[in-house]
Amino acid sequence: MKIKTSDFVTSAVVPSQYPEDMLPEIAFVGRSNVGKSSTLNTILGRKKLAKVSGTPGKTRTINFFIINKEFYLVDLPGYGYAKVSKSEKASWGKTMETYLNKRPNLQEILLLVDIRHEPTNDDKMMYDWIRHFGFGSIVIATKSDKITRGQMQKHLKVIREKLQMAKGDKIVPISSLKKEGIEALWSSIEELFID
Ligand code: GTP
Ligand code: MG
Repeated sequence: MKIKTSDFVTSAVVPSQYPEDMLPEIAFVGRSNVGKSSTLNTILGRKKLAKVSGTPGKTRTINFFIINKEFYLVDLPGYGYAKVSKSEKASWGKTMETYLNKRPNLQEILLLVDIRHEPTNDDKMMYDWIRHFGFGSIVIATKSDKITRGQMQKHLKVIREKLQMAKGDKIVPISSLKKEGIEALWSSIEELFID
């Protein structure tokens, strides 16, 4: 994919704040701190477009970034961060569910998991839910710089098995630190537009 332009458009909590042009949208979901915002910056070749932090819970709203004036990448708040209050968790949950469930131009939901660890039960629940709504053909395994090349296949297998991914479903390792896996991810995303 040739990135000609990438721009932040808006932050939203409720549907009235979503962009109105209804271009295709590709959403990034996953646990807090897994690397959603970093991955977005990395594949766009931008350093600070989406806000990144070592402290989980950085992204708190739905953030829309328009690419080549043709489609959106959508950065969502993460789940599974223990230190937020119950009411805050509930309101994030509602924000996420409303967006993921009711957005007609949502083209794909990409689940991000940390390549080092077996996906959590929350990840599995999220993936099942994504599948249920007809998405989930691409999983991104983040922070691939944290394991050796020799360990790669073993780790990808653990992720595949825990999520019970189908044979044809893709799992793309990516490293924002080493800038690896960018082309592979873009070709998987491009295929979504061809189908
Ligand atoms: P929330 O917004 O809290 O849901 O988190 P997020 O999923 O957007 O994670 P974010 O991109 O903010 O990154 C979290 C931390 O992981 C930061 O300290 C990043 O620098 C680090 N990180 C992200 N991607 C990578 C990677 O590929 N390799 C390494 N080593 N660290 C990474
Ligand atoms: Mg984030």
